Amino acid sequence: MFRSIFFTAFVAISAVVASPAVVDSTGGQRTCGTVPTDAEVARMEAHFAANKVTPKSDAAAVGPVPVYFHVIYANTTLSGGYVPDSQITNQISVMNTAYASVPLSWSLVGTTRTLNADWFNNVGPGTSQQTAMKTALRQGGANALNVYTVGFKSGAGAGLLGYSTFPSDYAGNPTDDGTVILYSSLPGGTSSPYNLGQTLTHEAGHWVGLYHTFQGGCSGSGDSVSDTPAEASAAFGCPTGRDTCSTAGVDPIHNFMDYTDDSCMNQFTAGQATRLKSQIATYRGIS
Ligand SMILES: *[C@@H]1O[C@H](CO)[C@@H](O)[C@H](O)[C@H]1NC(C)=O
Ligand SMILES: [Zn+2]
Repeated sequence: MFRSIFFTAFVAISAVVASPAVVDSTGGQRTCGTVPTDAEVARMEAHFAANKVTPKSDAAAVGPVPVYFHVIYANTTLSGGYVPDSQITNQISVMNTAYASVPLSWSLVGTTRTLNADWFNNVGPGTSQQTAMKTALRQGGANALNVYTVGFKSGAGAGLLGYSTFPSDYAGNPTDDGTVILYSSLPGGTSSPYNLGQTLTHEAGHWVGLYHTFQGGCSGSGDSVSDTPAEASAAFGCPTGRDTCSTAGVDPIHNFMDYTDDSCMNQFTAGQATRLKSQIATYRGIS
């Protein structure tokens, strides 16, 4: 039933993209395309440290962040990517629940629908189809989340669940800013066990400046958040008690920034909340 995990499904591109887990409707494992190297993380963290804006307060609510949804479809059936408005509305609700503890809110301000089988099939990190899609469709400024739903059928994006840019990528390439996800990962979609909407929660996590909880493995500064225990590698399913590093704490398998099943994910930590608020205050003018 399981496909191999596409940890190599990212390519070097100018922006650092975070690779979430890869999956498709045949039942693969979560694969995210936003996978920065330790060197890329070090470069981003140095820039962040030198330019950091401190948010108003830890308790202050942030948002709503305007969200533009761009539905790319191959035909007007569900399998062709033509997702109903109800799934998009439900996706925003899932995100608002997930980010309620931060607290950060999201608000849908527009939906576009584009018939383009080439984009539906072949958009992926670094592809010409991605550039054409984002150039044609991206709306708003640094503070606006643009979400593109595609099929990830082949090429650099084959098998991905999604990928995203980081806040610090924005200045160098505003048009590239945003998040691309598998259409069937929306709530009620067909990509079980990744069909409760937590793929966009995870990808939006990169978009607000969070790394994977397993970034850097057991050593070093990991995901640059102190209250997410270090984790040697991505966790799949919902492996209660998994403990892959000798440092304190079991693996954060319930964290939205791991690779576990949607039903297993339910947490951002206080440290992640502090970090993401500072990231979006610094790079997106959101505070
Ligand atoms: C719609 O597109 C999907 C994905 O390419 C394909 O599997 C399906 O057969 C198409 N359906 C029709 C009616 O063309
Ligand atoms: Zn990811």
